[in-house]
Amino acid sequence: TMGNSTNIFWHECPVSKVDRQKLLNQQGCIVWITGLSGSGKSTLACSLGRQLHCRGKLSYVLDGDNLRHGLNKNLGFTPEDRTENIRRVGEVAKLFADAGLICIASLISPYRKDRDSCRALLPEKFIEVFLNMPLELCEGRDPKGLYKLARAGKIKGFTGIDDPYETPLNCEIEIRQEDGNCPTPNEMAGQVVSYLEDKGYLE
Ligand code: PPS
Repeated sequence: TMGNSTNIFWHECPVSKVDRQKLLNQQGCIVWITGLSGSGKSTLACSLGRQLHCRGKLSYVLDGDNLRHGLNKNLGFTPEDRTENIRRVGEVAKLFADAGLICIASLISPYRKDRDSCRALLPEKFIEVFLNMPLELCEGRDPKGLYKLARAGKIKGFTGIDDPYETPLNCEIEIRQEDGNCPTPNEMAGQVVSYLEDKGYLE
């Protein structure tokens, strides 16, 4: 039968994950950023990548929108396609983390079960970051004009409009407005870096 791993064997390499950790002085992990379209996921991911780089830490950003031009270009936005999109990115993120990198995945990832499946791939090293920005703010920004199209019924199944966003129940980090003020991308990234530092990922 196809699609299983019968008669396929796992080959163990002599250089271990711990060897790579020592080489890089960091612990590979997955920072999974979830939130509505226009919440600022990509901006946060880039700020975080830059802050880590400045501290000599190796990271790599997996951006949902970007990956849909390559690895995931055969996928759309039906629930099944989103699930497959997130599954693939989760598997790739796991490989990057195994390679020793701080892998920053930034996808809407609207369904709780899909995020939880990714968490289950690397439960000890999965840091879910909920970018909790109000829909009104994201829709007001509407950087790509997609909310407008969704409201006009020209895009069907748009997250937050006519497709659900299931808020995280057990995220490691929540980023939100304080007294109506949005933290800057640098402040948000700083929040994540502090977490990584506290948990020993940067040593
Ligand atoms: S998902 O749900 O995690 O599979 O989505 P993701 O891979 O992160 O891709 C989200 C970007 O695709 C654009 N787009 C849509 N988003 C939501 N719903 C629908 N129907 C849709 N169609 C296109 C949108 O620009 C998202 O970009 P971001 O960067 O999140 O704003």
